[in-house]
Amino acid sequence: MGSFCYFWLLFSATLIMLIVYPILADKKKQGTGPAIAVTKHLSFSDFRPDDPKIVHEVKLLGSAKLSDEKGAIQIPDESHLSDLRHQAGRAIYSYPIRMLDPLTGTPASFEATFSFQFSNSSASSHANFTGGFNNTGGSGLAFIMVPDEFTVGRPGPWLAMLNDACEDNYKAAAIEFDTRQNPEFGDPNDNHVGINLGSIISTTTVNASDAGVYFKDGLIHQARILYNGSRRWMEVSLGSKPVFSGSLDLSPFLNEYMFVGFSASTGNLTQIHNIYSWSFTSTSQASLRVPSAETCESKIMERYGLGVLSSQSHSSIKEPSRSLLIFISVMALAIAVFASLFYICRRRNNQAKAVIFPDKRQRPRPPNKPRRFTISEVSSATRGFHEYEILGSDSKGTYYRGKLPNGCQVAIKRFSAQFLSSQIGMDRRRLLKEISTISRVRHPNLVPIRGWCQDNRETMVVYEFFPNGSLDKWLFGVGVLPWTRRLKVVKDVADGLGFLHSKQLAHKNMKATNIFLDVSFRAVLGDFGFVLSSTESRRFEASVSQKADVFEFGIFVLEVVSGRGRLESEVRQEERDLLDFAWRMHEIDEKARLVDRRMGSVVNLEQAIRVLEIGLLCTLNENKGRPCMEEVVEFLNLDKSIPELPPNRPVALFPYSSANAGLCNGYSCAPFK
Ligand SMILES: *[C@@H]1O[C@H](CO)[C@@H](O)[C@H](O)[C@H]1NC(C)=O
Repeated sequence: MGSFCYFWLLFSATLIMLIVYPILADKKKQGTGPAIAVTKHLSFSDFRPDDPKIVHEVKLLGSAKLSDEKGAIQIPDESHLSDLRHQAGRAIYSYPIRMLDPLTGTPASFEATFSFQFSNSSASSHANFTGGFNNTGGSGLAFIMVPDEFTVGRPGPWLAMLNDACEDNYKAAAIEFDTRQNPEFGDPNDNHVGINLGSIISTTTVNASDAGVYFKDGLIHQARILYNGSRRWMEVSLGSKPVFSGSLDLSPFLNEYMFVGFSASTGNLTQIHNIYSWSFTSTSQASLRVPSAETCESKIMERYGLGVLSSQSHSSIKEPSRSLLIFISVMALAIAVFASLFYICRRRNNQAKAVIFPDKRQRPRPPNKPRRFTISEVSSATRGFHEYEILGSDSKGTYYRGKLPNGCQVAIKRFSAQFLSSQIGMDRRRLLKEISTISRVRHPNLVPIRGWCQDNRETMVVYEFFPNGSLDKWLFGVGVLPWTRRLKVVKDVADGLGFLHSKQLAHKNMKATNIFLDVSFRAVLGDFGFVLSSTESRRFEASVSQKADVFEFGIFVLEVVSGRGRLESEVRQEERDLLDFAWRMHEIDEKARLVDRRMGSVVNLEQAIRVLEIGLLCTLNENKGRPCMEEVVEFLNLDKSIPELPPNRPVALFPYSSANAGLCNGYSCAPFK
């Protein structure tokens, strides 16, 4: 045993030596000073959309555009909007920039200068909404450092900096130029500069009026942000006037690599945020961790015998081989001493473990990975499950709105004790497993799960919160959703549902109240899954439920096109049941009568009728032509021609009325709901 140990040690030491040697040899070559400075410089004197460099290097997210007319970034993008309220957009440099040296925790030093102007919308079409009041002046612009290049924060006071999907450890920092006073966020007035560290609530605010600067005066303003990473000191000035100067540690709010740029939003009040020019320079310290190019080159030459071609490289090969000899003899001696020491130790304590692995470095968690929440976290987020925070409830439980300590909002589903106990043979472990399965199902049109929470009495799921609310409010509410948005909603929902089905899952609760709209009116499907049955029947159940999902999707499509619910009491008797009415209109070739008249003449009637037909197809009997979601997606993308609908309403189409479809969920009277 002892001699085996000895041999093993020698072997591993040789291995270590082989690994360490090139590094030492490299170090020797480099001499002293392994630290280097990583610098990055960007400069944009304008933002013209016809400049390929700008298009390549500036990434626009949410409602943002490059204005040809002004040569500026504009947030929001008014060219596509009739209503500029509640818009959020970002414009960032497309590539990550090193903002922190993780080895020493020192933030990068940087300087950012940019010129900006807040103007009124040229169209001012949003004036209709507030009846002629002065409705300009919101919400503001922020210079942001953010961890990814795809998130857009919430509109309004969030300045598109953070959204509800952001977890507590979402790293972000911003300097805001805020033109709206939000007392709940501690804003002093409607003209201030703020420093936001990982939260929308500013750690420091400065009254810009004190410096004689009024952001809303329509003039072009210059801002300069200077940060010294090693001193941890920030200076902000507007024009030539310093407005802030103080010590500030950004390091807890930075990842090694961050994206930098601008975000802006509008709320009830609107304005266009123009950014005309931007320059940015950063410098961070780094330690050289890879062999230099020179070493690599000589190695290649050595390997391929190219060294002999030049005397210069010949000498550079000779030198390491001499140092190799010295190195080997020193290492051999060290190993002998080390090994005998170890051998003695081992004899004394036979139980000692031979190898101790170093702790695994804590890898940074992806920002949106679902995690476990504690009861106290959830409780404080919902103010102790306060009734004011209730968003709604159904047979499974109650939904609460919650606010995490960083200001991000979440929706929390708290399963009712009744639901939990009614599940025959259901144990909590299976429910948790279900939650963890569906939380891994990620798609842009499915509501992301932020995490879960469980103790011996409670089971809860934490979802992303969608401030625009559910689709039914938009569809059946006071406002009129334009046709293009409706079409987009139908496509989004089809994509989300199709994805679920492709993962052998079913939604089982498809209805307008379970579809949410995000800040850019993308539709996302919520409250899916929870197929609480045993695994054997699962596949069968999924397939039955998927067919039911398609049926429900069909009715949903009819609702979207007609702008009314599946069952309405305030209409003529023969129109009450939407599905029945739709088929009768099809029979007499009057489908246009189903299209929501409130959309007026802007609707593309041909498209609307095509979509209606797709909806009706989905309500056909399973074995009489009901498509699967994959086909529906193709029909909607106009990739595939639609099969012809039967001229008459199929017999036995309605084993039940669409009125109770919401309860019965298509075919099976969902015993597991
Ligand atoms: C901001 O500064 C202006 C001008 O100095 C002053 O009139 C105003 O009261 C200040 N606002 C606050 C909230 O301090």
